Amino acid sequence: MTDDVSRQDAEEAPALRSDFLKTLRDRKDAAGKSRLARVNRLTPTSVKAPKRFDDLPEYRKIVAQKAISDLAGVENPFYRAHERVAGATSRIAGQEVINFASYDYLSTNSHPAVRDAAIDAIRQFGISASASRLVAGERPQHGLLEQKIASIYEAENAVCFVSGYLTNATVIDCLVGPNDLVIHDELIHNSVLAGVKLSGATRRFFRHNDAGDLERILKDIVGDFDRILVIVEGIYSMDGDVAPLPELVNLRSKFGFWLMVDEAHALGVIGERGRGTFEHFGIDPSSVDIWMGTLSKTASSCGGYVAGCSSLVQILKAHAGGFVYSVGLAPALASSALVSLELLETEVDRVTKLRENGQQFLKRAQSAGLDTGSSAGFSVVPIIVGDSLRAVQLSNELLKAGVNALPIIYPAVQEGMARLRFFLTSEHTPEQLETAVTLTAEILRELIDKKVGLASLDMQQVAKLIT
Ligand SMILES: Cc1ncc(COP(=O)(O)O)c(C=O)c1O
Repeated sequence: MTDDVSRQDAEEAPALRSDFLKTLRDRKDAAGKSRLARVNRLTPTSVKAPKRFDDLPEYRKIVAQKAISDLAGVENPFYRAHERVAGATSRIAGQEVINFASYDYLSTNSHPAVRDAAIDAIRQFGISASASRLVAGERPQHGLLEQKIASIYEAENAVCFVSGYLTNATVIDCLVGPNDLVIHDELIHNSVLAGVKLSGATRRFFRHNDAGDLERILKDIVGDFDRILVIVEGIYSMDGDVAPLPELVNLRSKFGFWLMVDEAHALGVIGERGRGTFEHFGIDPSSVDIWMGTLSKTASSCGGYVAGCSSLVQILKAHAGGFVYSVGLAPALASSALVSLELLETEVDRVTKLRENGQQFLKRAQSAGLDTGSSAGFSVVPIIVGDSLRAVQLSNELLKAGVNALPIIYPAVQEGMARLRFFLTSEHTPEQLETAVTLTAEILRELIDKKVGLASLDMQQVAKLIT
């Protein structure tokens, strides 16, 4: 299997070979062989029948959660169907709602130029990019989009992938291996954790946004690993606060690690021209090694990207499994992302408007006594309610009142830190923000008064329902 992959590599990938890549592959092969040895020890008698999926603890947990919701009489708030474009407003089950569950930060998802670009691309190239760009070739919009992204970060080059999640997973897997160390913020996105797991690198985390804690870890471990990669988010997806980039850049010069910043929720949001965290802090973008982001937020499309130096991009295009062995970005998605990013340059007032909305929402929520955690009031503002059941019920009651904001519960956030997450857009009006805050505060107060929460449930009855 490993040999097959190596052979395909040699045939399909451009002839880019360096000591770095060879060593990385050797180390991964060694880890793979020891796993294979463990599997070979399973004799036919020790394996009787395939495990049933409904016996798995993962499934039992789903059953338990459903039983608790049924007992509490709480509807499932997830997977609701929207009946039109979901931006600052939407329609769900025939009801017009103010919507806070859309990534469409700059409201470009329904912009005529973005739609036309997608439609034109479909007319000219069809729906699919056919296969991996290595073998099926490119479409002009791939290169144009990558040039645009590189120009945003003043970087030598950029490369796009078909999903933001996949971007983190495959990029990390490609760049580090079992002899390396990844250190990340404790609240980092799950896609980063998936990448580290895949890579076999050692993983450490530092306290959220605490550069001092990162420095302490670096002082303890430096020298024990070949490569050290530090990963943070520009704006945190669940909390809406900003990474302390100046301090991280200082640590990078002191300790010599690679710094990777996930700009999923920062591009188009902070910085005067919406270029993200480096512009927000007035930092030279070349002091970050790997700029990562998604095309599903500000770019109102789908996919992910990395911008950086030319050799990094060449390595990823030749060796990141999620690029080499996965289909290219659909031409319509690349075209629409390109036009959204052009709008970021030509209609900068969208960024200003989004920022004003974020700040207004944050201030109003705080003065209404709501717990907004550490949010800085940009693209994401959580309203932390603690109890998961209360968060779900708050979301459901708000929807009935015409406001759509989704709950985030364990395991996406720590137990006891359940929240409603409000995504702001440039097209929310001051009145919509005011209405949302007022209703949230009122309904939450009622739920607290009625003691709605997990503690109010009869756990014996829950146990009976589960078994
Ligand atoms: C910080 C962060 N990184 C990566 C991703 C994955 O991006 P996508 O949803 O575009 O696959 C997300 C998802 O929202 C995210 O919040």
